[in-house]
Amino acid sequence: MAIDYSISVEGVDWAALIASLAADRFDNGRTPHQMEASFRSSYRCVIARDGTKVVATGRALSDGVCNAYIVDVWTQSAYRRRGIGRRVVEMLCQALSGQHVYLFTDDRRDFYAACGFVPRAIGMQRIVGEWLNNSSRR
Ligand SMILES: CC(C)(COP(=O)(O)OP(=O)(O)OC[C@H]1O[C@@H](n2cnc3c(N)ncnc32)[C@H](O)[C@@H]1OP(=O)(O)O)[C@@H](O)C(=O)NCCC(=O)NCCS
Repeated sequence: MAIDYSISVEGVDWAALIASLAADRFDNGRTPHQMEASFRSSYRCVIARDGTKVVATGRALSDGVCNAYIVDVWTQSAYRRRGIGRRVVEMLCQALSGQHVYLFTDDRRDFYAACGFVPRAIGMQRIVGEWLNNSSRR
């Protein structure tokens, strides 16, 4: 079956998505409500489906002017190396013309290089308070 790519998150089963992420050891602890809030609050989302099953995701945070950040890029393990992740990132970038797009990756530099990204100086991070403990927690 052909993969369907959409910028709409309507109809996503967030609990099922979290289960798929967990099976791939890519779950970062969000509740289904938090997962939905993350995607709905994003500047642009891309959801790839095989039938009704979500097999890849990606989302961009952006001010719509100059700075964007790409997160939650994932292709289900059984669907990897078919160009799905590259297509997801490309669709995100189509919404980010003229902007500086940044991302963080531990070990997938090869993939992002294939998507046209170049390494930059070291990033820094701070978690404010306790991870995922805020008003989105339901
Ligand atoms: C990274 C990830 C999203 C790539 O998804 P994908 O759908 O397999 O990627 P694509 O098939 O579009 O790959 C595009 C190109 O990236 C490169 N690439 C992708 N995965 C690679 C790997 N494991 N090793 C080396 N190169 C890789 C290749 O150049 C590939 O092109 P090719 O298959 O023609 O050689 C997927 O491996 C994944 O979900 N990993 C776990 C989650 C993760 O690490 N996400 C990124 C967080 S920052």
